[in-house]
Amino acid sequence: MRIIASTAELRAAIRDAHAGSVGFVPTMGYLHSGHTTLFDHARNENDLVVASIFVNPTQFGPNEDFAVYPRDPDGDAEKCRAHGVDLLFMPSVAEVYPSGHATTVTVDHLTTELCGRFRPGHFAGVATVVAKLFGMVGPQRAYFGEKDFQQLAVIRRMAFDLNIAVEVIGLPTIREEDGLARSSRNVYLSADERQVALSLASALRATRAAYRAGERSASALCDLLAATLTRHPEVALQYAELADPDSLRLLRGTTLEAGQGARAIIALQLGRTRLIDNAAIDHDDPSFQTTQAGA
Ligand code: PAF
Repeated sequence: MRIIASTAELRAAIRDAHAGSVGFVPTMGYLHSGHTTLFDHARNENDLVVASIFVNPTQFGPNEDFAVYPRDPDGDAEKCRAHGVDLLFMPSVAEVYPSGHATTVTVDHLTTELCGRFRPGHFAGVATVVAKLFGMVGPQRAYFGEKDFQQLAVIRRMAFDLNIAVEVIGLPTIREEDGLARSSRNVYLSADERQVALSLASALRATRAAYRAGERSASALCDLLAATLTRHPEVALQYAELADPDSLRLLRGTTLEAGQGARAIIALQLGRTRLIDNAAIDHDDPSFQTTQAGA
């Protein structure tokens, strides 16, 4: 595996590999099995696997955790190597945003609700950096986790709208044995907060169970989701919603029709940690089948 910091060197390495297909996994590092699963898929499906580690300043708000975002470049490189990454791109901020940088990619509609309401500018930062990374790597396939469900929808839309010839592949959230979705930010949680954080998976499970038992009022399902989370006084709920899985249109106030897709999506603040999670409501969710968290 080669570790590369410059865009010119990255382009030359990709060109010289003469690969039939390039699979790309963009990350912000502090890698866990959610990321290495993406590497494994990219390895299985492509000739050349490129990963990037770049903590992107433009997607953090002024009061967010950019300065303290966990970093472990040596451990990350080891994980990339072990999971078949060929080229690991670790650019500096100046390499990605050289002086004079003046272009921002904004994706409308999909970014106004859910996390967009609580993190102004976040999705413009994500869409901009991912568009730039797609431009640098030129992958045939790019891999993202479904844990950031809104991010995945925004990236799909951005790539389609900008006519970028990349297949955007979303893969199920990887969970701990007890159901907590893997996240680099879980490292911020105290032991007590770690216990409370299990309420995200419990709330999703309870809502899935209510749907299976016949509840079709989206508002009732949203209220159940919220109530399971706010039972814990430490939880500052940001939102608990059901959304259309493609358009992300909020479904509160509607009755779910037979065959209609619905995704439960939640975000909350627990102490200094912001946590998000989501699950399919209308069909089996693979992320709940691979753990003890139940269906
Ligand atoms: O999901 C992430 O780690 C980041 O938002 C991404 C997609 C790498 C863009 O910085």
